[in-house]
Amino acid sequence: MNIGIIGAGQIGSALAVRLTSLGHQVYIANSRGPETLTDVAQKTGATAVTAQQAAQRGTDLLVVTIPLEKIPALPKDLFAGVPADVPIIDTSNYYPLLRDGHIPELETGDLTESGWVQQHLGRPVVKVFNNILAAHLEHNGKPAGTPGRIALPVASDDAAAKQKVLQLVEELGFDALDGGTMRESWRQQPGGPIYCNDLPADQVQQHLARLGTARTPEQHAEFLANQAQQEQAMQAQGIKLK
Ligand SMILES: NC(=O)c1ccc[n+]([C@@H]2O[C@H](COP(=O)([O-])OP(=O)(O)OC[C@H]3O[C@@H](n4cnc5c(N)ncnc54)[C@H](OP(=O)(O)O)[C@@H]3O)[C@@H](O)[C@H]2O)c1
Repeated sequence: MNIGIIGAGQIGSALAVRLTSLGHQVYIANSRGPETLTDVAQKTGATAVTAQQAAQRGTDLLVVTIPLEKIPALPKDLFAGVPADVPIIDTSNYYPLLRDGHIPELETGDLTESGWVQQHLGRPVVKVFNNILAAHLEHNGKPAGTPGRIALPVASDDAAAKQKVLQLVEELGFDALDGGTMRESWRQQPGGPIYCNDLPADQVQQHLARLGTARTPEQHAEFLANQAQQEQAMQAQGIKLK
């Protein structure tokens, strides 16, 4: 496939390494221009391009993997010429304390995190790879059937795009699970039981079933509180996200 990745940080680079090793043609972009991506291109085997070029050349699949707070800074017409059947993956997570500041719709729970992203992009997105650490994404994929294989949920309102991405997740070495609609994608967000815990399929399925589909105010408050605690712990360890 021809795959465009917008964002050349931890997740963008990890994905690029894996995708090129599987034989895909990968175009990768950051905010500062391809001339600043020589090392990334060398390490990953991807071709460094501008964000506009990544959007045009990723004719089979696009990935947006930049900090959530930067999403509104993307050019409004970035995906204007992209055919509707090209899936756009979003890997975002909301870190209000360490990076993103407070975003009202995410605090109230009126929108899910990727729901907020797709509203800004003006295109449906597919939420995946948000709940696995970049290093694990790069190194911990395993052949199908391996005991303990990590399972990753895929959520989207676009059934065809979701199907294509489910196949890719398997190809990358993870059990791919249907995570439901964009409205239901809160279940894989930070603060929840399937966030960055590297769980196998049966356990992820159990959590998804137990959580239900419609988020209650209590569940929203619990996830936010868990994430706040996690961010405070990271801050205490001196971890910076920007
Ligand atoms: N790190 C993880 O383990 C992990 C795991 C799961 C999900 N995530 C989520 O995935 C997203 C990306 O995380 P990350 O850790 O990969 O971020 P990161 O390492 O901080 O990298 C961010 C990348 O986005 C680029 N970028 C920023 N604004 C841009 C713009 N307007 N146009 C094009 N590129 C732009 C940056 O380019 P410049 O350097 O040129 O600004 C940089 O290459 C975040 O929402 C994060 O929460 C991260």
